[in-house]
Amino acid sequence: MERPAVTAADLTRRIADRAARVGIIGQGYVGLPLAVEFARVGFAVTGFDTSVDRVTNLNAGRSHTPDVPDDVLRARIEVGRYEATTNLAGLAQCDAVIICVPTPLRKSKDPDISFVAAAAQEAAARFRPAQLVILESTTYPGTTQELLAPMFEARGGRPGVDCFLAFSPERIDPANPTFAVKDIPKVVGGLTPECAALAAVLYRQIVDRVLTVSSPRVAELAKLYENVFRNVNIALANELALMCRQLGVSTREVIQAAATKPFGFMPFYPGPGIGGHCIGVDPAYLAWRMRLNGYEARFIHLADEINRAMPQYVVDLVSETLNGRRRCLNGARILALGIAYKRGVGDTRESPALEVIARLMDRGATVAYADPHVPEIAFDGRALKAVEVTDERLAEADCVVILTDHPEFDYTRIVEASTLVVDTRGATHALGAPADRVVAL
Ligand SMILES: NC(=O)c1ccc[n+]([C@@H]2O[C@H](COP(=O)([O-])OP(=O)(O)OC[C@H]3O[C@@H](n4cnc5c(N)ncnc54)[C@H](O)[C@@H]3O)[C@@H](O)[C@H]2O)c1
Repeated sequence: MERPAVTAADLTRRIADRAARVGIIGQGYVGLPLAVEFARVGFAVTGFDTSVDRVTNLNAGRSHTPDVPDDVLRARIEVGRYEATTNLAGLAQCDAVIICVPTPLRKSKDPDISFVAAAAQEAAARFRPAQLVILESTTYPGTTQELLAPMFEARGGRPGVDCFLAFSPERIDPANPTFAVKDIPKVVGGLTPECAALAAVLYRQIVDRVLTVSSPRVAELAKLYENVFRNVNIALANELALMCRQLGVSTREVIQAAATKPFGFMPFYPGPGIGGHCIGVDPAYLAWRMRLNGYEARFIHLADEINRAMPQYVVDLVSETLNGRRRCLNGARILALGIAYKRGVGDTRESPALEVIARLMDRGATVAYADPHVPEIAFDGRALKAVEVTDERLAEADCVVILTDHPEFDYTRIVEASTLVVDTRGATHALGAPADRVVAL
C-alpha cells in the first residue's frame, strides 16, 4: 500500500506525537532492547531480522537477553506495539529505520561490514521520501557518509532534503542493572543539521540526554574511542597484574589503593583476556581505517598484544601453581567457573574463557565447566555440557579456575570447599581468602 508522502516537519510531528512507525533492523543484544524501549513509550515498532528462529521466538514472547525479560516483551506484543518479522518489505512502511546489525572482524582481522551493507541496501531499496535512517552498529569513521549515503542517493534520496541519514552509536552494556537504554546519553551525528535534528527528536523520546555532534564521522569515532579507551586501560591493568606477580603484591590491593584518589584516576581490573562483540573488536576498526591513511595506531596494537596473551598467561599461572603443589597440569582435574565473556550474561562470543579451557585441555588437563547462563557449548571442535557446582566437585578438582565472576556463584563456599582456586576476576578478593588456597591475578 502506497503511503502519502510526508515532509520533514510532518515527520518531526509524527515522532513527537509517537505516531511514527519505527523499524529496527537486527534484533540482537542491541536492537531488541531498543525496540522494546520505543514500544514502551508508545511507538509501533517492527523488529526486522534475517533469523527465522529469532523472529519466531520473539513473536512467541521469548527474549534472548536479560535486558528484556519475557513478560516485558509479551506486554509490548499484547498491546500491538511490537512485532518481529523476517519480511523486510515492511521497511517501506517505517518512518524511522534504525540499523543494529553485527560488525565483526574477518579472519584477517579487517572489518566485516557486510551485514551493515546488506541491511542498508534493504533499507535503500525501499526508501521513500522523508524517511529517517540511523545506523547504530559500531563501525569505522566514514561509514555513514561513504557507504550508506550513496545507496540512498542512488535511489533519489537527497540528504537533508527528503532523506535523513544519521549515525548514533549504541552504548548499552548488557545485564548492567544501573544503566539501561533510557539512562545512557545518546550521541547523534547527522549528514546535515536537519538529519541530526530529526534523529535527536527521535532519541529524545526514549533517553533523557541527546548530544548532537557535527557529523556522523565524529559520532562514529567517539564510539570507537570509548572502546579503545577501555581496551587500552584493561591492557594496562593486565600488565600491572603481570608486574605485581613478579613483585609479590596483590594487583587488586594496588588498584583499590590508587582508586582512593578522588580525581585523575579510574580503576580498571585485570582478567583472563578480552571478550564479547565490542571491546576486543572495535579498536581494529579504527586501526584498519587509519592504516588506509598509512598510520599505525600504536596504542591499539600494543593493548591488543597484551590482552591476547592473557589466556596463555592464565594457563601458565594454573600450571605453575599446580607445580608448586607437586602436581602436574597434564592429567589434572580442572573445574572452570564461568565461560561467558562477562558476568551475568550467557554471551560466549570471543570469550577468553574458551581459549583458556581449550589450552588447558591441549596440555592434558581434564576440564569441566559450570556456568548458570551457558548450559552447553561447542567450540574449537569440542562439545561440553555445564556441570553443577557441588561441594564434592569443588573438593575433587585439583584446581578451580574462576574465569567469569557470575553473581550466581557462592564464592565463600567455593573457597571453603576447594583445595586450590585461581581467581582471574578478583571475585574472592573481598573474602580475604587464604593465600595458600587462592591465587589471584
Ligand atoms: N552487544 C553489545 O553489548 C553492543 C553494545 C554496543 C554496541 N554494539 C554494536 O551493535 C551492533 C549489533 O550488535 P549486537 O550485539 O546486537 O549483535 P547480535 O549479533 O546480538 O544481533 C544482530 C542481529 O542482526 C541480525 N542480522 C544480521 N544481518 C541482518 C540483516 N541484513 N538484516 C536483518 N537482520 C540481520 C542477526 O540475525 C542478529 O539477530 C554491532 O555493531 C555491535 O558492535 C553491541
